[in-house]
Amino acid sequence: MYDITKFKIKSEPLILGIESSCDETACAVLRGRKIVANRIISSAAEQAKYGGVVPEIASRMHTEAVDEVVRLALADAGLVPSDIDCVAATYGAGLLGALLVGLSFAKAFACALNVPFIAVNHIRGHIAAAYLDKPDLKPPFITLLASGGHTAILLTKSFTSFEVLASTSDDAAGEAFDKCARVLGLPYPGGPSVQKLAECGSPVIALPSALVKNSVNLRFSYSGLKTAVINAVHNAEQRGERINYADVAASFQRAAIDPLVKKTVELAKKYGVGTVTAGGGVIANGYLRQTLNEACQKAGMELVLPAKKYCTDNAAMIASEGLNQYYAGNFSGLDVNAAASIPL
Ligand code: KG4
Ligand code: ZN
Repeated sequence: MYDITKFKIKSEPLILGIESSCDETACAVLRGRKIVANRIISSAAEQAKYGGVVPEIASRMHTEAVDEVVRLALADAGLVPSDIDCVAATYGAGLLGALLVGLSFAKAFACALNVPFIAVNHIRGHIAAAYLDKPDLKPPFITLLASGGHTAILLTKSFTSFEVLASTSDDAAGEAFDKCARVLGLPYPGGPSVQKLAECGSPVIALPSALVKNSVNLRFSYSGLKTAVINAVHNAEQRGERINYADVAASFQRAAIDPLVKKTVELAKKYGVGTVTAGGGVIANGYLRQTLNEACQKAGMELVLPAKKYCTDNAAMIASEGLNQYYAGNFSGLDVNAAASIPL
């Protein structure tokens, strides 16, 4: 019988992570913080035909891929299922049908092996990607989180607690990249397409910053920026003028990213924290990585920046957050349900 009161905590467990919140079916195995396998089967190419993620297609493709991705990860690690000490899987936030596939698989797997199951908050997974880059990283640190669904700056106080210092009042940064891509006729996924085009342009078009001025709390807003991009393109078209799309992309990229970088470093100074980390798909952006690196260097701060493949959705970050919860003894029951949206 699966009984969370009976499990013992090991010092260097073999933890298997599963991620299926959007269009990537992923499985990774960690030995402590060391990645011993990391596999992703992506439905992004299929989704690209529709210009974005179709939830029904995502769920079906997870169902086809989940068994295979786990088998591949175990084979890469040279392990068999009975070697695994703990199973962690994303339970939210994300597409419900997609989440249910990985979550149900993980619960069944943990139950069959009689090892602890840990339900992981996807966003906490993005934050925990920093520990993969620097296994001896210890809180406190400031985290810049920017993905398709979330944009925030957080104070990570301990391995299991956070305080949100700034967030977006509407769209997430990644969502804005995806919408900007659509306006410019670029393919899905939007972030990498906008970055590529921006590299050929200059930020010469005046666009509103994503920072909300004069608000009591520190806030970002991306819907105004998105609308400004749409207006810039449409107004030029209506006047029969040519607008350089590469310049639009470069201007958008700068307006979207500069305030995130600036405020991250300012908050680290304000809270007297010497280490900055980052996570989420937008952190794969080359301009963001470069400017954040420069800003941290200038401020004399340490920057822990996960490799790009650990910024976009992956299962190693889910296993890494699972490990935080494992060491804290926060095992989950088998009745955990998937959740489309959850707080941090
Ligand atoms: O973290 P993630 O893989 O999934 C979510 O949890 O949402 O983030 C996906 C988001 C998408 O909006 C995508 O356009 C954006 O991250 N993204 C990028 C880049 N690569 C992915 N945004 C800007 N530049 C990139 N290179
Ligand atoms: Zn994500």
